[in-house]
Amino acid sequence: MPVIFINGEAVETGEHRTVLQAALANGFYVPHFCWHPELSIVGNCRVCVVEQEGRGVNIACNMPVVDGMRVQTDSEPVRAQRKAMLQFILLNHPVDCGICDKAGECTLQDYHYAYNGEPALSQDPKLHSTKFYPLSDRIILDNERCILCSRCVRFTREVSQSNVLGIEYRGDSALVRPAEDRTLDDDPYSDNVIDICPVGALLSRSFLYQARAWYLEPTPSVCPGCARGCTVQLWHRKPEWRVKGLDPRHNTRILRVTPLENPRVNGPWICNKGRDLGGALERPRAEVAMLKGEPVTTTRAIEAARELIRASGRRVALVSSGGSNEELRAFHSALVANFTTFVKPDHLPQDGEVVEDDLLIRADKNPNTRAARSLFGDSPTEISADTELVLVWGEGADFGAFPRGAKIVLLGSWLAPENGYADVFIPLSIQTERRGHYTNFQGVVSAFEPCCWRPDGVIDAETLFPLLAAPPGSTA
Ligand code: SF4
Ligand code: SF4
Ligand code: FES
Repeated sequence: MPVIFINGEAVETGEHRTVLQAALANGFYVPHFCWHPELSIVGNCRVCVVEQEGRGVNIACNMPVVDGMRVQTDSEPVRAQRKAMLQFILLNHPVDCGICDKAGECTLQDYHYAYNGEPALSQDPKLHSTKFYPLSDRIILDNERCILCSRCVRFTREVSQSNVLGIEYRGDSALVRPAEDRTLDDDPYSDNVIDICPVGALLSRSFLYQARAWYLEPTPSVCPGCARGCTVQLWHRKPEWRVKGLDPRHNTRILRVTPLENPRVNGPWICNKGRDLGGALERPRAEVAMLKGEPVTTTRAIEAARELIRASGRRVALVSSGGSNEELRAFHSALVANFTTFVKPDHLPQDGEVVEDDLLIRADKNPNTRAARSLFGDSPTEISADTELVLVWGEGADFGAFPRGAKIVLLGSWLAPENGYADVFIPLSIQTERRGHYTNFQGVVSAFEPCCWRPDGVIDAETLFPLLAAPPGSTA
């Protein structure tokens, strides 16, 4: 293993590593724009400079480690070069941080403050370029802010492989542009370029001007959009920045979804469907329990469901493949003896949706099929004609296939016509209102945390299942 000396400290590093990798892995921060751990090295931003003993100042992202080499990450010559480079990058970069969505998360802002901190030396006015160039229905590009690091271009070539983006023209005329007749709509992973753009050049239309970064905080979660179960961060307003006098839902909305890096599952990426999770969670909720479409208290509905279970002969349960590990186990221990159980997909691929690919997206559009099948088996659903009660947990069941006359107990979270059709309907909490775990198709278990309060009348499935198995008269 090569040993190198960074700022005089001996550091053991792996073979075939660069000085930048060795430094970052050992707690020596070296600023960088164009280098990204998942992309090829291009070495074009020139801010990652370090001073190598006997060889002067050069970029660290493309400097291989050699046993015994000595580098300084913050010497006078290094600081002078970094400052000059930042002056150069800022020659034409507008100082519109006041309205820029990236303010507070922009590395150019941070490096300017740390290494430069002076107004532009140039007397010439800044060059202007296109401000809002549409790259897709989801993304716009502000060319004035672009520092031509080429991360977005390399992402579409090397990771998503849509090959949509390139850089055209040269010098200070250079522009990021999509290939002719293409847009980033062709790329189901396009929104990752917004995260990896080090400045506010690539902007999400759905998040544009919604909130300053420092008003928000992330809650760790898991995307329920397919069996990959990518780990994500759900961004919502901090309690101290809640706004009075607005629609209260404004304060509890998921304003953006970003990847939570997880080398075992999704690396640093997610697909666009995962980004849209916040919008998907804004579907109208079912918040009131019902008996044959008539509103009742949740306690009354639980009592009625318990009665139906007790009084029915042959009983079938369709178990949700979107239930958490904890909920599935709760169902298994409380109710499996009462039912013949089948695992049901809550969601199937929709028209126009990418069914499966080689990067992340899986054909199974449910987050927890593996855990559900390990408890309840994977036999295809068979509901015999003598079935007297069908308990449906979650979405996606075909009520038309149930035997005529069979009673139906439905447990769900969203407003749907079936809720009123069921003999008993009980509203359940959703993922953002509780904590739990999913097991993805590889067997990796990931945790999600709550970030919203449950509406009144709505119950957690984990709490409900033991109550359904309790003797008559037990209280919810
Ligand atoms: S748009 Fe952003 S990621 Fe793409 S080259 Fe410009 S600065 Fe880099
Ligand atoms: S790949 Fe699947 S789990 Fe990951 S973000 Fe996309 S839909 Fe969600
Ligand atoms: S990070 Fe090394 S040149 Fe850009």
